[in-house]
Amino acid sequence: MTSNRLRLGVNIDHVATVRNARGGALPDPVRAAHLAIAAGADGITAHLREDRRHIRDTDMQRLASELSKPLNFEMAATTEMIGLAERFRPHAACLVPEKREERTTEGGLEVVGQAEALAAPIARLRDAGCRVSLFIEADEAPIAMAAKLGAPVVELHTGTWCHAVADSHAEKAQAEFERLAKGAAFAASLGLEVHAGHGLDYDTARQLAGIPAFVEFNIGHFLVGEAIFVGFETAIAGMRRAMDEGRAAGR
Ligand code: PXP
Repeated sequence: MTSNRLRLGVNIDHVATVRNARGGALPDPVRAAHLAIAAGADGITAHLREDRRHIRDTDMQRLASELSKPLNFEMAATTEMIGLAERFRPHAACLVPEKREERTTEGGLEVVGQAEALAAPIARLRDAGCRVSLFIEADEAPIAMAAKLGAPVVELHTGTWCHAVADSHAEKAQAEFERLAKGAAFAASLGLEVHAGHGLDYDTARQLAGIPAFVEFNIGHFLVGEAIFVGFETAIAGMRRAMDEGRAAGR
């Protein structure tokens, strides 16, 4: 294992989405988390949304107490969520923007205009022992502000790039890829640990893995979808392979 091996965080939110469609206890997202770790995930990510549309408080509590690998608690910077993070004490807390009506997290956290409002939540999470990360756009201003706010990690939003790739908008995809590469290098130059996530699949993860500044990818929806066809373990092993291939090619 080389020191620049990319970590894979598996997001299990959409196992809970399927469970909640029927209102019962199955499929159990915590079982999926254990399976993901057995299949090679380096950590588990779960997003406790304000409306509890997928992950619930009890899921987060079980994940925090049962997992053998780091838990990354994705959350909005609200008083309620900060209080829950203080209670569950996950390894990491990733602050994301959240709008009740959105289908999924759309765009990065507005850090430049909200620096003052973010300072206290970041301090409380740090005091709770969480490694704080900010989910932001790959632009200089939010990256510089994240560093100024003392967040040790930024997660760069890959959604716009992944959409452009999926829609075969070659020019936009190229521009977005360059924005991510430049943003990742800039963040690393400021001493930040650089993660990426949103919308990644085998092909986009393989390509992005060639950018050496990235340390971790967090991937959920594609893996849970792919699991329907090939099983969760095979999907995760395939993603591990794609990331390793991309990293080796980028060297
Ligand atoms: N990272 C962050 C901060 C996210 O909000 C999400 C979506 O919940 C992901 C990663 C994973 O995105 P996807 O489910 O599209 O792989």
